[in-house]
Amino acid sequence: MRILFLTRSFNGLAQRLYLELTALGHEVSVEFDIADAVTIEAVALYRPELVIAPLLKRAIPEAVWRDTVCLVVHPGIVGDRGPSALDWAIVDGERAWGVTVLQAEAELDAGPVWASEPFTMREATKSSLYRREVTEAAARAVTRAVQRFAATGSRTPAIDTRGARGRQRPAMQQADRRIDWERDDTRTVLRKIDAADGAPGVLDRLFDAPCRLFDAHAERLPLPAQPGLVIGRRDDAVLRATVDGAVWIGHVRREDRNDAFKLPTALAFKDEVENLPERPIDAAGPAEASGWRELRYEVEAGVGYLHFDFYNGAMSTAQCERMGAALRFALTRPERVLVLFGGTDFWSNGIHLNVIEAAESPADESWRNIIAIDDLTRALIEATDRVVVAAMQGNAGAGGVFMALAADQVWARHGVILNPHYKNMGNLYGSEYWTYLLPRRLRSGAPGTLMDHRLPVQAARAAELGLVDAVFGDTAQAFVATVRARAAALAARADLPALLHAKRLQRRRDEADKPLAAYREEELARMRRNFYGFDPSYHIARSNFVRRVAPSWTPRHLAIHRRGGA
Ligand code: COA
Repeated sequence: MRILFLTRSFNGLAQRLYLELTALGHEVSVEFDIADAVTIEAVALYRPELVIAPLLKRAIPEAVWRDTVCLVVHPGIVGDRGPSALDWAIVDGERAWGVTVLQAEAELDAGPVWASEPFTMREATKSSLYRREVTEAAARAVTRAVQRFAATGSRTPAIDTRGARGRQRPAMQQADRRIDWERDDTRTVLRKIDAADGAPGVLDRLFDAPCRLFDAHAERLPLPAQPGLVIGRRDDAVLRATVDGAVWIGHVRREDRNDAFKLPTALAFKDEVENLPERPIDAAGPAEASGWRELRYEVEAGVGYLHFDFYNGAMSTAQCERMGAALRFALTRPERVLVLFGGTDFWSNGIHLNVIEAAESPADESWRNIIAIDDLTRALIEATDRVVVAAMQGNAGAGGVFMALAADQVWARHGVILNPHYKNMGNLYGSEYWTYLLPRRLRSGAPGTLMDHRLPVQAARAAELGLVDAVFGDTAQAFVATVRARAAALAARADLPALLHAKRLQRRRDEADKPLAAYREEELARMRRNFYGFDPSYHIARSNFVRRVAPSWTPRHLAIHRRGGA
């Protein structure tokens, strides 16, 4: 079928649906929801059999849905309506939720239901639920709806929605999200911030300045502190007391600054945070000495696991340096298998574009950040005394993908999406030793084709290409359990010394052919031009990205219908 995606952006969910449907043999073209006239034009150009809206904030024009079946993905159960579906589900403590695919009609979210899929809620942020449970359920629901449409072509699917418990909910306002620090316990504070993460955040005040709060994590306190008081910091987060404990606030967006965007709290409030007592935590400390930490090293059955759960998968210079220290520690350990677990939502998305944007000289900070991530990648490539495994629970993009290729083995959860290219970020050339790591892995096609393609790649396809070695686990839990079992089996292999010997020899041969330093120098020469050269594309793209500027046109590599001068 010819399917047109109408969407606000080509986000993770849209990418997943795109990959599912193209893998089933459908042709999918994408149009961003920019203006009614543009949508109508796209439909006229493409003449799709079906329109699917993975992410929409406004109604589809009647001129479109009157003549073409339009299916809208709603992150709510049957009967639920309104733009804050997940926000309410989190705040209300729903245990079971779902995704519904319904047909667009005059009234929003009120059309006939084509498919719905349930999922179990998790205590997590809205974006985490969206990236995992909602995305998986949407993939199933949309596939089923498309099958149904292909089979019947019918405009009225026979799904009985009587007795559905969903209902119309209003858009959640900041008044609904407001935290009462004198009353709300840690769980309530967390739920409120989780329900507003990644957008719009909870409007609050920190250090007497208005700001939006994001990225919260619970903490127990040995002694109670005055609720609402900021009592410490760890890395880039601050600790704020609640009535029964405390929460770490990792990211904020200041409201008293023009043109502010989301930043690590310690960067947004540099002066205020400076004198707060540091509450360090050892990355290798036992899990029960818990408390929130971005980096964690644990050992199980002779395997070392390094977790690096950076918000949004973005890795600033400071985060790369902290991870470098954790990695150096891991490399002093006797475990012969090192699993890089990344974060729960993202494995890594490369350098931290927001932190770069906030720097006095974004070009200098870009440079520092790429050097820091390159150093990390080199340390992984040179870890020849152990088997290194990159285990992707979540998606990876740009430099994050290539850093993973530094591992000997890349394992990915079913459904994980890789964006193994840099060019969408203002034609960035990229580093992270990709010119060394990519060609030695690619099984088919040229590295340039993949890099120029600019399209997402699903784990199964990445395995065909050679970027990934194994794909398993339908859920995050199943994936993690299998990773642990496979890694333990690897560590127990009798031929492990022989494997490591072969690894060392290969590295030595590669180094003799062309030293790592040469790859790095060539890549960085191109990156220097991106950062400091005449062409400002990267700086413009980064600025638009961190400020979430809505696109004003759909890129040609997505909009098939706009190619060839159409
Ligand atoms: N630096 C800072 N923030 C980043 C980031 C990065 N490298 N990559 C992703 N994010 C943030 C986004 O700004 C967004 O923030 P929000 O919570 O305020 O909404 C969040 O992560 C989720 O990103 P989003 O684009 O909505 O996720 P997605 O699943 O739709 O898309 C990517 C994933 C990787 C395709 C996309 O985020 C991307 O292109 N990232 C930039 C990658 C890059 O160019 N890195 C630099 C070169 S190494």
